[in-house]
Amino acid sequence: MDNVLIIGAGAAGSVTAQKCAMNRDVFKKVHLASRRIESCEKVAKQCKTKIDISQVDADNVAATVKLLKKVKPDLVINMALPYQDLPIMDACLEAGVHYMDTANYEPRDEAKFTYKYQWPYHKKYKDKGLMAILGCGFDPGQSNIYCAYAQEFLFDEIDTIDIIDCNDGSHGKSFATNFNPEINLREVTQRGKYWKDGKWIEIDPLTISAMIDYPEVGPRKSYLIYHEEEESLVKNIKGLKQIRFWMTFSDNYIKHLDVLQSVGMTRIDPVMYKGNPVIPMEFLKELLPPPSSLGKGYTGKTSIGVIFRGRKNGKAKTTMIYNVCHHEQAYKETGAQAVSYTTGVPPVVGAMMLFKGAWTPPGGQKGGVFNVEQLPSKPFMDEIGKQGLPWHVKDIKISDQKELFAVKT
Ligand SMILES: NC(=O)c1ccc[n+]([C@@H]2O[C@H](COP(=O)([O-])OP(=O)(O)OC[C@H]3O[C@@H](n4cnc5c(N)ncnc54)[C@H](OP(=O)(O)O)[C@@H]3O)[C@@H](O)[C@H]2O)c1
Repeated sequence: MDNVLIIGAGAAGSVTAQKCAMNRDVFKKVHLASRRIESCEKVAKQCKTKIDISQVDADNVAATVKLLKKVKPDLVINMALPYQDLPIMDACLEAGVHYMDTANYEPRDEAKFTYKYQWPYHKKYKDKGLMAILGCGFDPGQSNIYCAYAQEFLFDEIDTIDIIDCNDGSHGKSFATNFNPEINLREVTQRGKYWKDGKWIEIDPLTISAMIDYPEVGPRKSYLIYHEEEESLVKNIKGLKQIRFWMTFSDNYIKHLDVLQSVGMTRIDPVMYKGNPVIPMEFLKELLPPPSSLGKGYTGKTSIGVIFRGRKNGKAKTTMIYNVCHHEQAYKETGAQAVSYTTGVPPVVGAMMLFKGAWTPPGGQKGGVFNVEQLPSKPFMDEIGKQGLPWHVKDIKISDQKELFAVKT
């Protein structure tokens, strides 16, 4: 296997394409397709080696199948939007191609983050001997792989997981989102949720917060939100008692979000305007800066990790695995900011794992739909640092994260 097709030439897809084009020992053929050919042309110019490009509307299964039959890739990396997950999965099944993505499917009219639409494809993929690898970005993605690694190598039992995500960068705009605005705002305006003692507990959006001490950044106010990897991790991390996800938002971001929400600009249902139906969130997306435009002048860093509490050899243990990524370094290498970089690099390493035979279907199965924590973590962890996202393991004390552990959930 050496032929990859990336669909989606946006902020994160641009990083994925450029990184594949830097690793020609693994990726002999690299093809990038997107809804607009201009997006592909722009990325192709940024690539260090020549890549092929095509226009495709990935909502159209027949058009995608036609492209797959022409390009004959071994794998499609879906870097378009969550709406395209199912049509691309259908096209891959029809053309006999492995599939990978970084975010779970969402219907346009319902902002619910769930694998319930993609997991049922397991049998179809298995019967065809194909793999569909879900959630191979940073979070979900690298965060899940940290969990698999901790389960296998660092702990005998894991009781609690806190995924902590801080962007301590500054893009200099009054308001912008670091990945696709529509998807980002759908994510943060949904109700919060965490999992404890076998049950999901819902909360009003952004109503629980704590100061979390982020590596190389320091204490930052972080909000408990729901994030999709929690759904697969509660299944795949054995004996887990609680999982929570925390993300930093600046006061400025929250202020803008409050206003946009209160005037109805984040609604995802149609509103009639001059006789035409308009979806406010889709219109708002057109007004906001595209995430691919934010890289220049972006300063600061992201600090994203996972904190585990559990036991090893009968002794209580609290450990953190994390990565710090600098916006300026990401921009220098790929023209992208660190959020696109941390999203775009892990699928490249995931694709390497598939192509080199390090990721095969678990349990001797022939194929199927898998979340990344179901696949071997060690070969991924050995490679990801070399590709720009080094990770660190640190044993910590409860007192190092006083506020986080004091939050009653
Ligand atoms: N797991 C993670 O850590 C993580 C983090 C952040 C984001 N993500 C995921 O990554 C996705 C991409 O984020 P981004 O910041 O790169 O967004 P983006 O810059 O808006 O890029 C999305 C791209 O999708 C393409 N696209 C949209 N509809 C398409 C269609 N029907 N057919 C073909 N291409 C289509 C667009 O193509 P054109 O430019 O050609 O119009 C656009 O370039 C996000 O939506 C999110 O789901 C994952």
